[in-house]
Amino acid sequence: MNSLNVTDINAQLSNSSPQDILKYALNEHDNIAVSFSGAEDVVLVHMAAQIKPGVQVFCLDTGRLHAETYQFIEKVRKTYDINLQILFPDAEQVEKLVREKGLFSFYEDMHQECCGIRKVGPLRRKLLSLDAWVTGQRKDQSPGTRADIPVIQSDKAFARPGESLIKYNPLANWSSSEVWDYIRALEVPYNALHERGFVSIGCEPCTRATLPGEHERSGRWWWEESTKKECGLHSGNIEK
Ligand code: ADX
Ligand code: SF4
Repeated sequence: MNSLNVTDINAQLSNSSPQDILKYALNEHDNIAVSFSGAEDVVLVHMAAQIKPGVQVFCLDTGRLHAETYQFIEKVRKTYDINLQILFPDAEQVEKLVREKGLFSFYEDMHQECCGIRKVGPLRRKLLSLDAWVTGQRKDQSPGTRADIPVIQSDKAFARPGESLIKYNPLANWSSSEVWDYIRALEVPYNALHERGFVSIGCEPCTRATLPGEHERSGRWWWEESTKKECGLHSGNIEK
């Protein structure tokens, strides 16, 4: 594939619907996968499975997800015509971390080390095999870090040396309420935690329900400073 001019394409697609952005992405790259966290980004899986049956989807199983999230991921696997891969962290690295620092080190010395081993390492390994990936990031998820995300960007953090990796964020311009209108209107299955006050969902020890009026990001890594909450999957958002 020729190298894409992401700035021009971003300008062309920035007012397009998530479905049209996804259509463009899935037609442009054969070797592309959707990253699915087991939360409301299920709308991407729903759309992608219609556009390209058998589409590659991957989940990063940190070993610390909620039971409800595992059940939901399995439901999604059975509901849609997708090629779902569950990716695990390197066992030796997890064992070393837990042996040296225990199971809850992130409450004491921040989440980056644990996220690095349980999420970023497996993501890096996966992205080495892809030309492009699709995420469910939205601008409204995190005013501090995601307010400017484009619908298409060059992912310099995870590209193979000397090659390009394209990252699509088809939901960038959708609000949370647009996502939920879509889920309800099309009866898309969703994670049971959303009925118990959870808005943004990550690992169980690092996610909590939020109160009405609280920003969804305050339910993630709540013991840390609020403006820089990225775990490394989308590190480009804070390297400014
Ligand atoms: S995170 O970086 O803070 O954990 P967030 O939960 O907001 O990310 O999700 C944003 C997008 O990142 C998701 O829609 C998905 O594309 C990707 N993502 C996050 N966590 C995972 C995961 N465990 N597995 C696969 N993709 C993920
Ligand atoms: Fe570890 Fe928490 Fe990051 Fe999950 S979110 S990988 S448990 S620090």
